[in-house]
Amino acid sequence: MKQIQVGLIGFGTVGSGLAQTLLEQKERLQKKTGAEIILTQVADTSGRPLPEQFSEVILTRKATDIFTNPDIDIVVELIGGMEPARTFLLEAIKHGKHVVTANKALLSVHGKEIFEAAVAHNVEVGFEASVGGGIPVIKSLKEGLVANRIESIIGIMNGTANYILTKMTDEQLAFDDVLKDAQEKGFAEADPTYDVEGIDTAHKLAILMTIAYGKHVHLDDVSTEGISSIKPIDIEFAKEFGCRIKLLAISHQHEDNVEARVHPTMVPNSHMLANINGAYNAIQFKGDTVGNVLLYGPGAGMMPTGSAVAADVVDIGRNILCNSVNRVPALSYLPENIGLPSITPMSDLSGPYYFRITALDKPGVLSTISGIFSKHNISIQSVFQKSRHEFDPVAIVIRSHIASEEAVQRCIEEIDSLDVCPEKTVKIRILLDDE
Ligand code: HSE
Repeated sequence: MKQIQVGLIGFGTVGSGLAQTLLEQKERLQKKTGAEIILTQVADTSGRPLPEQFSEVILTRKATDIFTNPDIDIVVELIGGMEPARTFLLEAIKHGKHVVTANKALLSVHGKEIFEAAVAHNVEVGFEASVGGGIPVIKSLKEGLVANRIESIIGIMNGTANYILTKMTDEQLAFDDVLKDAQEKGFAEADPTYDVEGIDTAHKLAILMTIAYGKHVHLDDVSTEGISSIKPIDIEFAKEFGCRIKLLAISHQHEDNVEARVHPTMVPNSHMLANINGAYNAIQFKGDTVGNVLLYGPGAGMMPTGSAVAADVVDIGRNILCNSVNRVPALSYLPENIGLPSITPMSDLSGPYYFRITALDKPGVLSTISGIFSKHNISIQSVFQKSRHEFDPVAIVIRSHIASEEAVQRCIEEIDSLDVCPEKTVKIRILLDDE
C-alpha cells in the first residue's frame, strides 16, 4: 500500500492530538485515501519519551533530522511562536517538504514570506488548525465559498475569551477568577494576554481576511481591543439592553477598503453569535452569492485541533497521491493575484455605543459629561447611574445612538481629562441587529 509519511515538530497538546488521531483513524483513513498515513518521526526537545503506543515512531531532538529525512513527505510544525517555528517552516519548504502548521501568530506576521517560499518550491502549506480549532473554516472559505465575493466576516474566534465572558455572564463571576479556570482547562495561550487582549483573535482575523479578499493582511492591520477591562457591571447592563458581551472579530469589505477590527461587543440576544457560549467558536461569512453562513464548533483543545491538523495532512496526502499538488492554492487566490489591503481607518466607522464613565458623585458632573457628548455631536439614548454605596466613585452608564468612532474617541479623551473622572472610560460597541 502507498504511504504518506509525516514528521512532527513539537509533541505538546496539539501534537499529541494529531498523533492520537492518525493512530486511532488509521484504518478509516486508509479506506478514504487508499494509503497509509504514518507518523514516522517526531522532533521534541522536552526530553520525555513518546507514549508507549508510538513506540515505532522515531524520536529526535533536532528538527533538522526531519527535514533531511528523505522518507518524510509532510512536516507538521506545532511548537507555536515566531522563532524557531519560522525558520523550521522555511527550512522544511526549502527541503521540498509540504508543511502544515497551526501557528496563527506566525502566519499573521510572516505569512507572506512563508506562502511565497512554498510557491517557489512548489509545496503545499496547510493551516486549517490556525483558525477556529476543529471547525473546518479555512477549507470552507477556500473551497465551499469559492464562488463568492466575501462581504463580511464576523466571529468569535477565541475560546478562552468566550469562556471567560460566558462564565462572567452566567455565573456572575469576576474576570480574574475565570481566567485562572480557563488556564487550568488548557485552552489558553502560553501567554494568556494574547487571549484576553484580543491578539489571538486578531491573528485569526488577519488569516481569514487574507483568504477572503486575496490580500496579505498583517496583524498590524487589525485594530485590537481586549476584554480585560470588562467588569460585572458591564455584563449586567448588557443583559438589561437584551445583549451579551462577546469578543468579536469584524471585517466588512467596502468598495475600496476593508475593515479589520477586534473588540468587545454587545451582541443582541436575537443574533446567532450571542448564543455561542463556553470555549466554542463561531464564524459568520456573508457571501454575495450564498448569503450568511455560520460555522460553529470547538475552537480549541487537543483533539479538535488535532482533527484539523489531520485534515490538512490528509488533504496534502491526497494531492501527492493524485499528482495534484496545489490544486487548490494555499490562499484560494492564485499567488500572482494577491495584493496588499487598504484598511478602513477606525475613525471612519460608526455605530451605537455603551460608555461606562467613572465619576465623582458631585453636583454638575452629569451635566458636564452630557455637555461633552453634545459638543461632539453624540446623541444620548439613555443614562443610568449606580447608587453611591455600591460604587464610590459612581459608574455613569450612557447608551448612545449611532455615533462616529472619531467623535467617540474625542469625547472619551475629554471626559477622561476631567478631574472628577478618576478612571478611564470603558466603551463597548453595540452590534446592529442586521450585521
Ligand atoms: N488560545 C486559543 C483559544 C486556542 O483560546 O481559542 C485556539 O487557537
